[in-house]
Amino acid sequence: MTRSRRWRLRSTLLPLAVLMSLVLPALSPAGAHARADGRIIGGTPVDIADHPWVVALVDTTTKRAFCAGALVAPAKVVTAGHCLLNRDRRRLRVVAGRTDLFAKDTGTIARVAGAAVHPGLHTPMPYVNDVAVLTLDGALPYGTVPWVSPREDETYEPGTTGWVFGWGRTEESGTASPRQLRTVSVPLWDGDACEAAYPDRIDQSAMVCAGTGGSDSCQGDSGGPLVVDGRLVGLVSWGTGCGRPDLPGVYTRLDRYATWIDRAVRAA
Ligand code: ARG
Repeated sequence: MTRSRRWRLRSTLLPLAVLMSLVLPALSPAGAHARADGRIIGGTPVDIADHPWVVALVDTTTKRAFCAGALVAPAKVVTAGHCLLNRDRRRLRVVAGRTDLFAKDTGTIARVAGAAVHPGLHTPMPYVNDVAVLTLDGALPYGTVPWVSPREDETYEPGTTGWVFGWGRTEESGTASPRQLRTVSVPLWDGDACEAAYPDRIDQSAMVCAGTGGSDSCQGDSGGPLVVDGRLVGLVSWGTGCGRPDLPGVYTRLDRYATWIDRAVRAA
């Protein structure tokens, strides 16, 4: 092929390809959603109005939601301690009342006035004592979620159905995160089985495993609420991969931290 013919071909195909890539996704939004829903995390999109206490932690520099949290009092958010590592609080925002993170005309954005990170937080992974309480610069007009009491073994009975919420990845190897809040039901694991899945990395009294192959939390969901019967019982903390059958998600077991949270929430 001569140089000029090759160029002519490219100059006609290139704009066409660009045009197609712009038009095709716009034509098939339903197809795109169906694919995401069927993937390994296995959740479904939900509306924030039904779960008004779920919040996103957004970095003003990257404009991305990097973690989630739970509104437990009008100006207090419980999240994972590791979410605050190397984060400048002045660049941190709590986005509440917003289902679609791109829908800028919905919900409320709060600044963070203070953060109490558990003094025993251990990093890097596997995180230990992975809990923090943020104090917002003002009260948010949304419903709050109650949290567990100290030492509630019955609540963590193996097989109990928990629900986890977040804007994190819908597949292990994907980079894109969904715009819309999602939830998935995850069965709680027996402590010994959890420890067998992650030898030497589990403290059964402070962590709980949950999920199945196909239903799990993932990157970006950290700090997100794990709820049983309408009460906050855990926080997304860590895991190997996402949605793998033998490797459940590991959650901060909040009955262990209930007293610490009580105190942090009462503090100004
Ligand atoms: N550490 C992750 C985060 O920062 C959460 C990973 C949870 N993984 C899992 N398989 N459940 O977002």
